[in-house]
Amino acid sequence: MGRIVVTGGSGKAGQSIISELLDAGHTILNLDLAPMAHPSVHTLKTDLADSGQVFNALSGQWALTEPFPEGLPPRPDAVVHMAGYARNMIVPDNETFRANTQGTYNICEAACKLGIRKIIIASSITVYGVSFAQGDNNYQSFPIEEDHDVCPTDTYAIAKLCNERVARGFAARFGADIYVLRIGHVIAPEEYNEEIFYSYVHEPAEWKVHGWAYIDSRDLGGMCEAGLRTDGLGFQIFNATNDTITNLKPTEQFLREGYPDIPITRKMEEFEAPLTNAKIKRLLGFEEKHGWRKYFNLWDKKRVVM
Ligand SMILES: NC(=O)c1ccc[n+]([C@@H]2O[C@H](COP(=O)([O-])OP(=O)(O)OC[C@H]3O[C@@H](n4cnc5c(N)ncnc54)[C@H](O)[C@@H]3O)[C@@H](O)[C@H]2O)c1
Repeated sequence: MGRIVVTGGSGKAGQSIISELLDAGHTILNLDLAPMAHPSVHTLKTDLADSGQVFNALSGQWALTEPFPEGLPPRPDAVVHMAGYARNMIVPDNETFRANTQGTYNICEAACKLGIRKIIIASSITVYGVSFAQGDNNYQSFPIEEDHDVCPTDTYAIAKLCNERVARGFAARFGADIYVLRIGHVIAPEEYNEEIFYSYVHEPAEWKVHGWAYIDSRDLGGMCEAGLRTDGLGFQIFNATNDTITNLKPTEQFLREGYPDIPITRKMEEFEAPLTNAKIKRLLGFEEKHGWRKYFNLWDKKRVVM
């Protein structure tokens, strides 16, 4: 149990992560530009692209009390950094790049210089650089593991890859544990019976771009909690996806039929997600709680959704 700063806690992933971390007994301070109404979490409106604000927020009070207690509170035990533009085309590309790289640089720098030795950072499976287009660019091998080549071609993903390198540099220089999560498409509990999961299951040829994988927002919180529990791994990159493939065929059969030219480099679990989470299970002891088959109801292909 610790004092954990979450950035981007007002967003889709952040809210679930905060909920899981509170359940695990942590105390949370949320840094975000957007408000979040929560009875036990203070949100400090902080622009992470501004280094002064980041240093200040990581070394200041955690709640508004009158009067403030003597001295400063103890420094945070860890930072879980989710904040940023979560895709392209929210703002022009140069602003996506500026804000997302500057924000992550500022968090790494301030946390490391203030003596915080555990940082968990949101990257994205988009760094693998595989797009929606069929045929033009492909994975080189299956399963897609963390040492697979990365070649992102859009600004959001290029910024994520830059952030991974920034994190690696700070981890090496300061001896910190910085765990990067290459997050799959985040599915909130209410989305299992909406269009996207219907399409995952019934139109799998469309979902090369997601590596036929997803991450339940609550399980993403469980991954952050597992990262907070596990010390001493230095810099690590983890695919943050759930256990199983997002369609109905056994994985190797699905991949051999659809992508006969791409080698399968090891024996895979029967329904293992091609964009696999094997590493985070092995090194952080992560255990999935929210497999999609427990929640999905749109088994009938003729059913009209949305
Ligand atoms: N949603 C997905 O499917 C997905 C997939 C892969 C990776 N990710 C990554 O996970 C993280 C969280 O994604 P999300 O879906 O919760 O996004 P979101 O847009 O719901 O939340 C992002 C939060 O960051 C805040 N923010 C943005 N810029 C900020 C800044 N400069 N300073 C302070 N706060 C700022 C926003 O106000 C927002 O509350 C992001 O880093 C995103 O790139 C998301």
